[in-house]
Amino acid sequence: MAPRPTPADKFSFGLWTVGWQGRDPFGDATRPALDPVEAVHRLAELGAYGITFHDDDLVPFGADAATRDAGIARFRKALDETGLVVPMVTTNLFTHPVFADGGFTSNNRDVRRYALRKVLRNIDLAAELGAHTYVMWGGREGAEYDLAKDVRAALDRYREGVDLLCQYVIDRGYDLRFAIEPKPNEPRGDILLPTVGHALAFISTLAHPDLVGLNPEVGHEQMAGLNFAHGIAQALWQGKLFHIDLNGQRGIKYDQDLVFGHGDLLNSFALVDLLEHGGPAGGPAYEGPRHFDYKPSRTEDMTGVWASAEANMRTYLLLKERAAAFRADPEVAEALAASRVAELSTPTLADGEGYADLLADRAAFEDFDPDAAAARGYGFVRLNQLAVEHLLGAR
Ligand code: GCO
Ligand code: MN
Ligand code: MN
Repeated sequence: MAPRPTPADKFSFGLWTVGWQGRDPFGDATRPALDPVEAVHRLAELGAYGITFHDDDLVPFGADAATRDAGIARFRKALDETGLVVPMVTTNLFTHPVFADGGFTSNNRDVRRYALRKVLRNIDLAAELGAHTYVMWGGREGAEYDLAKDVRAALDRYREGVDLLCQYVIDRGYDLRFAIEPKPNEPRGDILLPTVGHALAFISTLAHPDLVGLNPEVGHEQMAGLNFAHGIAQALWQGKLFHIDLNGQRGIKYDQDLVFGHGDLLNSFALVDLLEHGGPAGGPAYEGPRHFDYKPSRTEDMTGVWASAEANMRTYLLLKERAAAFRADPEVAEALAASRVAELSTPTLADGEGYADLLADRAAFEDFDPDAAAARGYGFVRLNQLAVEHLLGAR
C-alpha cells in the first residue's frame, strides 16, 4: 500500500499535464478538453497541494479582456474552494506561429518585444495569485540550421530579456524568482541552454543572478544522455534548485513525459533519496514543490488521466519510503562506510595546510604505495545491490 498523498507532500501539477488532449505530430486529440476548474477540484481530491499553468492554459491566446478576467475569476474561485495554491506560473512562447523562431531570441525584433510584453503581463498575474517561481522554458529558442542563428547574439538577447524581467520584478516588489528549464531539443532541432550545465553558466552572466535559478526536468537531461540526479546535485550545490519537473523518460529519444518513475527507476530512487535525505543532518535538501510535468499517454481515457496523476504521487511517496528504509538499514550504513562515501566530505588538505605542507608530507607521496592503495576495493556494487533490494521491497 502506498501512503496517501496530502498537501504536506507539496505535490503540484501543470494544467497542461492532466489537460493534455493527446495531440501529437502524427495524430489528433484522443481526449476532450479539460476545464481548468475541474482540474483544480480533481487534483485537490487526489491530495495535490498546487497547480501551475501557462498563460494560455488558463485563458485562450488572444482572448479579450472580459474573457480573460472571467477565466481568472472562475479559476480563483476553484482555488479558494479547494485550498489549492499556485506555486509557479509560466508563459507559452511556443504554440502560436508567431513564435516559430522563438520569443526572446527570435531573429525578428518585433516578435522579441511582443514576447517580453506577453511575459510581463503574465508576471503580474503570477504575483497576484501568490506564485513564488516563474518558469522560463525556451522550447522555441533555438534553431534547426546553424547558419540561420547567430548563437552569441541570441544569448545576448536572452540575457537582455531575462535582465529586463528581473528588473521588473525588483521594481514591482514581487516575491518572485525565475527558474530556467533546460531542454536539448524538441520542438527546435537544437534549443539554447540545452542542459543544466549550460543554464548555470548562462545565469552567472546575468545582472541579477540571485533572482534566477533552474527548473530541471528529469526527461530533458536524460534526452541528452545525462544523469539527472547528478544534475540536481550540482544545481543544489550551486543554490540553484528553485523548482523541479518530475517525470519519466526511457533513453535518448523524443520527449516522452512519462509518469515519474516510469523511466529510469533506479535514478529516480537516487533522486528522491537526494531530495529527501541529502540535506543537513539527513533531512530534505529541497523544500520546494514536487512538480509533475508529465503527459498522460494518448492511449488513456479520462479515468486513465486521473489514475496517472495519482501514479506520479504514489511512486514518489513509495520511493521516499524506500529511501528512508535504505538509510535506516544497518547493513547499508556498514556498506556506505566500507565504500568510504562519507570520507569524501573530509577536505583533502588539513586545516591551514597549503601546498608547502603537502610537498613536505612524505606520506602523501614518497612513502605512499599506489599499488597497495589501488588494491583496495570500493564495494560500490554491493552498495548498489542493497539499493536495488530496497527498491524491490526485498529488505
Ligand atoms: C516539455 C516541457 C514543457 C515545459 C512547460 C513549461 O516537456 O518540453 O517540460 O512542458 O515544462 O511548457 O513552460
Ligand atoms: Mn518534457
Ligand atoms: Mn517541464
